[in-house]
Amino acid sequence: MDTDQVAALEEMLKEASSEIAEAEDEAALERARVRWLGRRDGRLTEVLRGLGSLPAQERGAVGAAANRAKEAIGQALERRARALAEKGVEEAPPGVDLTLPGRDGWQGAVHPVTSVIDEICDIFRGLGFTRARGPEVETVWYNFEALNTPLDHPAADEHDTMYLGPCTVLRSHTSPVQIRTMQAHQPPVRIVVPGMCYRRDPFDASHAPAFEQIEGLAADEGITFVEFKWTLAEFARRFFGPETRTRFRPSFFPFTEPSAEVDVTCMICGGAGCSACKGTGWIEIMGAGMVDPAVFEQVGYDPERYTGFAFGMGPARIAMLRYGIPDIRMLYDSDVRFLEQFAR
Ligand code: PHE
Repeated sequence: MDTDQVAALEEMLKEASSEIAEAEDEAALERARVRWLGRRDGRLTEVLRGLGSLPAQERGAVGAAANRAKEAIGQALERRARALAEKGVEEAPPGVDLTLPGRDGWQGAVHPVTSVIDEICDIFRGLGFTRARGPEVETVWYNFEALNTPLDHPAADEHDTMYLGPCTVLRSHTSPVQIRTMQAHQPPVRIVVPGMCYRRDPFDASHAPAFEQIEGLAADEGITFVEFKWTLAEFARRFFGPETRTRFRPSFFPFTEPSAEVDVTCMICGGAGCSACKGTGWIEIMGAGMVDPAVFEQVGYDPERYTGFAFGMGPARIAMLRYGIPDIRMLYDSDVRFLEQFAR
């Protein structure tokens, strides 16, 4: 009886080994494992489970044989699994070497200027401003005259741009979208306008002949200088950090009165003075002002009833400040070694 059982186990081992050796794929191998070693009714599992009911003098020899068979089947399964995996490698399509190390997947990212634009527009959305757009090819009227800038005014010289025809230009700022929006909508108007602008500027470390601007305009009843200053100071705190202070320096734009350049405390030195702020502790981030009544007259708003403010900033410059980029051209070179630093 004892020897019969041991012989039967050897027979099972043979059968199992040849089934495993013939398994053509992982699924067949798994079926073989379940048939022989499956927890519930694997054939060898059943033998092992039955050991307890054997007479004591048989238990030792049969138990030893059963455990040997279990181990042998386990090893055969492993060997076959390895062989199948290697076969997979051998069968890789021609020209594909599956033993080469893996490569990182390419990760794209939003351009730093685009992400600054989105962040700025999001902040202004939180302050009640919607996003508007306008054409990059403008008429001279929208780009200059409607903005209270006669062509023979010295302010027009600073905005020398590319003429596409006698009356059409590549817009030199996003301010014409102020006019277009006010022509299309009655107050209240609160908009931010991101977009490309063009000027006959050199392409150097701090200028680009094609660059982004974000325009802002608020026009409503009862807007005062207080709302103007608070809105821009609050924007600066939300964008640069809660400690940021803001300063308004008198300036001139034909379409705002009074006009200001807006400075924020230098984000590098916190206002103590460093090379980034040329020792002043302040960095200029935009031009701004209260809307000139002459502009309201152009679009048919009653200047006795409505007041407002406007501002314009360059997100590329702001991206340079934020990320410590020394040359504006790096933002337009499309050099992946530079840009991939902004992939999150
Ligand atoms: N359009 C002006 C410029 O490009 C900036 C500006 C916008 C100033 C709105 C005041 C108000 O220089």
